[in-house]
Amino acid sequence: MDQVRVGIIMNGVTGRMGTRQHLERSIVAIRDQGGLDLADGRRLVVDPILVGRNPAKLENLAKRYRIDRWTTDLDQALDNPADEIYFDAQTTKERAVAVSKAIAAGKHIFCEKPTATSLADALELAHLARSAGVKNGVVQDKLFLPGMMKLKRLIDSGFFGTLLSFRMNFGYWVFEGDWQTLNRPSWNYRSEDGGGLVLDMYPHWRYLVDNVVSPITSVLCHTEIHIPRRWDESGQEYRSTAEDAAYGMFKLANGVIAQFTTSWVTRPYRDEIGEWQLDGTHGSAIAGLRDCKTQERVNTPMPVWNPDIPNPLDFRAGWSEVPDNQEFANAFRIQWEMFLRHVVEDAPFSWDLFEGAKGVQLADLALLSSQERRWIDVPELTPDPA
Ligand SMILES: NC(=O)c1ccc[n+]([C@@H]2O[C@H](COP(=O)([O-])OP(=O)(O)OC[C@H]3O[C@@H](n4cnc5c(N)ncnc54)[C@H](O)[C@@H]3O)[C@@H](O)[C@H]2O)c1
Repeated sequence: MDQVRVGIIMNGVTGRMGTRQHLERSIVAIRDQGGLDLADGRRLVVDPILVGRNPAKLENLAKRYRIDRWTTDLDQALDNPADEIYFDAQTTKERAVAVSKAIAAGKHIFCEKPTATSLADALELAHLARSAGVKNGVVQDKLFLPGMMKLKRLIDSGFFGTLLSFRMNFGYWVFEGDWQTLNRPSWNYRSEDGGGLVLDMYPHWRYLVDNVVSPITSVLCHTEIHIPRRWDESGQEYRSTAEDAAYGMFKLANGVIAQFTTSWVTRPYRDEIGEWQLDGTHGSAIAGLRDCKTQERVNTPMPVWNPDIPNPLDFRAGWSEVPDNQEFANAFRIQWEMFLRHVVEDAPFSWDLFEGAKGVQLADLALLSSQERRWIDVPELTPDPA
């Protein structure tokens, strides 16, 4: 069988997302299954080269995943015409410069979100990629979570009647770093290093809400730095300069009101670390990362406020599980496979750098809303002519 080799320059793969989601569960998994079948009968095989700053870490990673090629020299890697895709999972602050370089070198781009730390930089990247005619994509993994796919299935079936409201509780406790190991990198809590929960999470909420429910038309947000001092990876104490919680509301084009609480300073008492509840006139659904439950109009109980007796209603018992009805693959891998097919056989891929810029736009406006203590409309973005 004819093979098509695709060389992928993978930068930032020593990090949390880079190693687990993009290298191990996507590219290595695709390689280990022997590649992807293409529509014309050929087989696409991936050939990654790992790029980073620390040779020892890269060497270890390459050994662990049986990868021949690694380098600390990004420019040299970009000079190799045999590697046609540049992937970036570096810290957010580093992304725009490296992606611009890769576009200038004629590489197709696939990268993590947020694509940049400001809307202007994010739009500039989208514009550069269009002008250079390179294919480009941004990670929008939450769209491929089983829970979100089930929620979308329910919407498409007409289950909800008229949609009314959407509420999300998302987050968990991120340890301060003094007496327990950090469970998120310390740069996340320093705005000068590209950190901040809004820049990190609002890009996800933008594509998720826009694509699953309805486009976001206005945002109201209040951010807080609840924990003012934290300890970094080397045990050094530092001042938190970026928010660790955001209390947001969105108005959607279809009239739905969304309330989204995003927090790294909360202890979940729910089934999953994130839960999204959508209420409609004919039914409600509550989705997590994997599961989704529904309650229909006809199964809705009639509670009465009476704290003088034990609660007679088991609210959870009145909900039914939405069945899987399909196999769910890793959300990152699904998008990688689609992007690889987009590059090699021009298969459709709609989550490009321009769509990625919309996420940065929402983050920018949410931070402005918090600063100015007011609702802000989200203007429609239109791509610059190439
Ligand atoms: N899609 C998602 O669900 C998701 C989840 C978490 C993070 N992210 C995004 O992925 C990116 C990486 O996040 P992470 O949590 O893996 O971070 P991380 O700190 O674990 O990894 C960062 C990577 O960037 C490299 N790097 C290059 N220059 C650096 C510098 N000057 N300072 C620090 N690191 C530098 C590091 O060596 C490492 O490989 C971020 O942009 C983040 O927003 C996406």
